[in-house]
Amino acid sequence: MVASTGSGEREGWSSRSAFILAAVGAAVGLGNVWRFPTLAGESGGGAFVLFYVACVFLLGLPLVISEIFIGRTGQDDAVGSIRKVAKQSGASGSWSLFGFLGVLAAFLILSFYSVVAGWVLYYVGVMGADFLGAIMAGDPFRGALLGESQEAVSGRMGELFANPMLLLSMHFAFMGLTLFIVARGIGSGIEAAATILMPMFFVLLVGITVYGAFVGDMTEALAFLFTPDWSKLTPQVMNTALGQALFSLSLGVAGLITYGSYIKGPSGLGSTSVTIAFADTGVALLSGLMIFPIVFAVGLDPAAGPTLVFQTLPFAFQTMPAGALIGLLFFVLILVAAVTSSISLLEVPVAWGIGEMGWSRRTSSLVFGGGAFLIGIACLLGYNVWSDVRLLGFWPLFAETDILDTVDGFTGKVMLPLGAFFTAIFVGWKADRRLVKEMTGLSGVWLSLWRFLIAWLCPLAVGTILITGLFPQILG
Ligand code: PFF
Repeated sequence: MVASTGSGEREGWSSRSAFILAAVGAAVGLGNVWRFPTLAGESGGGAFVLFYVACVFLLGLPLVISEIFIGRTGQDDAVGSIRKVAKQSGASGSWSLFGFLGVLAAFLILSFYSVVAGWVLYYVGVMGADFLGAIMAGDPFRGALLGESQEAVSGRMGELFANPMLLLSMHFAFMGLTLFIVARGIGSGIEAAATILMPMFFVLLVGITVYGAFVGDMTEALAFLFTPDWSKLTPQVMNTALGQALFSLSLGVAGLITYGSYIKGPSGLGSTSVTIAFADTGVALLSGLMIFPIVFAVGLDPAAGPTLVFQTLPFAFQTMPAGALIGLLFFVLILVAAVTSSISLLEVPVAWGIGEMGWSRRTSSLVFGGGAFLIGIACLLGYNVWSDVRLLGFWPLFAETDILDTVDGFTGKVMLPLGAFFTAIFVGWKADRRLVKEMTGLSGVWLSLWRFLIAWLCPLAVGTILITGLFPQILG
């Protein structure tokens, strides 16, 4: 184990492609395979999807470049990196406060991310046991959960939610795995995990999508995802799409500042960032093309909401050929995506503990992994014993939301857009222009375009999400 204490040689990625793989792993997560199809389904498909893609490339991509620029230049944790860039640019060190906001946001997101990933882990267990049963019965290619009614299949989620000990053990196992990987460090922990898990993820994703194209209704799925009905693009839907683009690209929580700070080689951040944005968006779209053909083939509701993946799909696998096996692989795929993202969430505060507090990597991992685990317990109790608790009940926006949704909503609607807003203002207006040009490797028309997007469009658009997200009544 590389035990960095902040004083010795700082850790780093072994190559540029290792960084890209880890950054794509951070971006590709529950946001792509669970949230994106859920939101696309709820928001009526095509118009949401096309608006989302526009957000990724016009707002997300310039921010990806900016965050990596800060980290690559600063070579320190999020707070330290911003401080250094501010210093080199003659700006106030107080800008590093938005780095601290990001550290806090990443820590809070991790707490509920691990709980949701715990549900996935539970379903890996359910589908794994079912597949094992199929093998024992000598029929490995049968459908999933045979003989169970749709109510019984959906009911499994309710049973899980009503059982705090079960939720807790899944959350514990997932957080334990995350902590174990991060404590091993950048090279033998995070990079090693991404190198094994990301190729596995892509093979599963492509495999299940091809399967869905054969046994499902791909034509209807394509029409649903790509035929825009612009009347469905309401201000709320635009707001959701913008927020989802930030979440999916891991923006606003200093994740890419932190990962970028472990890049040692030469700059040239434009192409690296384009790769990350394309990969993340490609995976979100492919996830839609993996899930909806199966949902449509069985005549289920694409607008089922957050339970789409947990209740609707397992039932769909019942009548599909080899449904038991594919159902298991499907949940393994989501779990793999969740791990490579949760390690990036934990790495943000862990790097802060190492860089700012002088802790060892092991101590910092234990403090923040353990802390997020404890907050996660409150989130999972919100489904059962604390179901009446409304953490921010005084705020109309959160008056009805349980603990997990409150932490999710507060980080997603307040902290993340705030982080993105300050990143855009800082890099667009405060950072030294020559430093930016040199470190990003951008020039000519690309540099001008990026400058326009980061200095003008991002603050305006992200500021709008922030205001309308907080005061939805403005939208009517
Ligand atoms: N981008 C991840 C996802 O789509 O699931 C979530 C995430 C990971 C957000 C890491 C922020 C972050 F720093």
